[in-house]
Amino acid sequence: MKTAVCPGSFDPVTLGHIDVIERASRIFDRTVVIVLQNRGKKCSFTPEERVTMLGKTTAWLPNVSVVHSDRLLAETCAGMGGVVVVKGLRAVSDFEHEFQMALMNKKLNPELDTLFLTAGERFQYISSSVIKELCSYGGDVSELLPPEIHDEVVERLRREARCRMT
Ligand code: PNS
Repeated sequence: MKTAVCPGSFDPVTLGHIDVIERASRIFDRTVVIVLQNRGKKCSFTPEERVTMLGKTTAWLPNVSVVHSDRLLAETCAGMGGVVVVKGLRAVSDFEHEFQMALMNKKLNPELDTLFLTAGERFQYISSSVIKELCSYGGDVSELLPPEIHDEVVERLRREARCRMT
C-alpha cells in the first residue's frame, strides 16, 4: 500500500493545502496529514485545534487521516514504514526552502523521498500567513479558507488582532 504524508503547520489549513491533500489522496492509496511544529512561526491555533480543523475539512476524503507529531518529520515518517512526503510548491520563492528541507529530511532518514506537486493556479498566492494578515485587517478571506472552518478562523484571528492592539 502506497502512503503519502502531507506535512505542515496548517495554522490554519487553507484551500491551497486542501488542493494538495486531495490530489495526493488520488495518487496514493492512503494519505496521512501530519501537523508539525514550525519553530520559526508563531501559531494562532493549538496543535489539537489544527488537527480538528483538518479533520473537518478532509472528512469527505475517505483515505485521508490526520495526526499530530512533536518530533522531526524524518523521525515521524521512520515510524510509519515506507511513506513518501508530498508537498505543494507555489512559486520559485518556495523552492529554495523546500529543496533544503527535502535534502535535510533525506539526510536524517535516507529512505524518505519528497514529491512536489505544483500548486493549482488559483492557489498560488494563498498562504496561512497571508490569510492571518488579511484577516487581522478585517479583509475578506472567504475564497481562501475552507468553508467548514471559515467562521471560527475569522473570529479567532480578528480577536487576536484586537488583543494585540489593546
Ligand atoms: O506549513 P509549514 O510551516 O511550511 O511546514 C513546515 C514544517 C512544519 C513541515 C517543518 O517546519 C517541519 O518539518 N517541522 C518539523 C521539524 C522538522 O522535521 N524540521 C525539518 C528538519 S530541520
